[in-house]
Amino acid sequence: MASPAPFADGSADQNPLTRLTLDELRQRTSVKWRMHPPDVLPLWVAELDVPLAPPVGDALHRAIDLGDTGYAHGTAYAEAVGDFAARRWGWNGFRADHTTVVPDVMMGIVEVLRLVTDPGDAVVVCSPVYPPFYAFVAHAGRQVIEAPLGPDLRMDPAALDEAFRRARACGRRPAFLICNPHNPTGTVHRRDELEAVATLADRHGLRVISDEIHAPLVLPGAHFTPYLAVAGAENAFALVSASKAWNLAGLKAALAVAGPRAAADLDRMPEEVGHGPSHLGVVAHTAAFRAGGPWLDLLLDGLDANRTLLRTLLATHLPSVTYHRPEGTYLAWLDCTRLGIDTEQPDGGPGVASDVAGPAKMFLDRARVALSSGHVFGTGGAGFVRLNFGTSPTILTEAVTRMGRAVDAHRSAG
Ligand SMILES: Cc1ncc(COP(=O)(O)O)c(C=O)c1O
Repeated sequence: MASPAPFADGSADQNPLTRLTLDELRQRTSVKWRMHPPDVLPLWVAELDVPLAPPVGDALHRAIDLGDTGYAHGTAYAEAVGDFAARRWGWNGFRADHTTVVPDVMMGIVEVLRLVTDPGDAVVVCSPVYPPFYAFVAHAGRQVIEAPLGPDLRMDPAALDEAFRRARACGRRPAFLICNPHNPTGTVHRRDELEAVATLADRHGLRVISDEIHAPLVLPGAHFTPYLAVAGAENAFALVSASKAWNLAGLKAALAVAGPRAAADLDRMPEEVGHGPSHLGVVAHTAAFRAGGPWLDLLLDGLDANRTLLRTLLATHLPSVTYHRPEGTYLAWLDCTRLGIDTEQPDGGPGVASDVAGPAKMFLDRARVALSSGHVFGTGGAGFVRLNFGTSPTILTEAVTRMGRAVDAHRSAG
């Protein structure tokens, strides 16, 4: 059967990343486009420079036309995710009755932490990692323990073992918050790595919460394994959302999913948490998982091409920057330590996503390119920048060209 036409206008260029001009993007009012003055190319926060996927736009227009703007209800979101998981990841263990809709992924993580840990308990994270992991865990009154990734940017079993042991020693009900795929490195954890996590977590008595927001964004060459599909993960949780892959962060909704031995815990989620998700968010996310697959395939092709373009651009303009080719996400983790830029940190602590220091500050000041500053991702982040390549090849090319010129100017200045 022919798949549905991804674009209503049937235009030849179907790459969602080439559909909007810089002038059109600058009309947006989201944080990506309004945090910095208009001469800055924003390649920092994880928003995509794409129009809405047509099935998502259609579902939203239908809801608006109907005045269907009340409260969210029902299991449509969960069922759409379950079908998507079976189709894309070959996972048939998903149970809609073991899920609950939450306002967004980070609120979902906090609410699950409240179910399975107590104030003061330890939460292990693999640094460098998405800065709000630090901020939200601290805000929820839990303490972060880091298990740094290895030099290959993959989870390090020895570091995990040590962190789990420390977590166990300092708290009664510790947890491990895993980022799968991993932001900022784009590492897609393999099944054997996840099985090793499950074994270690079981040995040390940690509950695992898997943030799978980037799961639909696994690029050619890698395969996504849902943590809950792994043997030994039956008492774990996952958080799933359409917000990164279909650029729906402003339409608040996400899904908390419990493994079979965590379902009773999820049942204790207070009813009021379910008042947080936006009904239009649920409508949009459901449409994305249900009918947004063909559009997602076009996006992944565009991201794969950008991933290769970025390699070429860096080799040409910034040869001393090391690029670890991401397996998933639209985020590139660039090692700028050889640029010799002072990496002193303004406040010393991770977690504040908008803090800018070191190479990111130099690129902002001299290239007028906004990147995420590595130091806010925790141990292992200083001297790195995170670049969001979910944009047009034209903008990507202009940004890296400017970054190259900035390094030259920085070197000649002294
Ligand atoms: C790993 C990860 N988790 C969570 C989020 C935020 O998700 P939400 O807006 O649903 O809380 C992001 C956003 O970039 C992310 O990269």
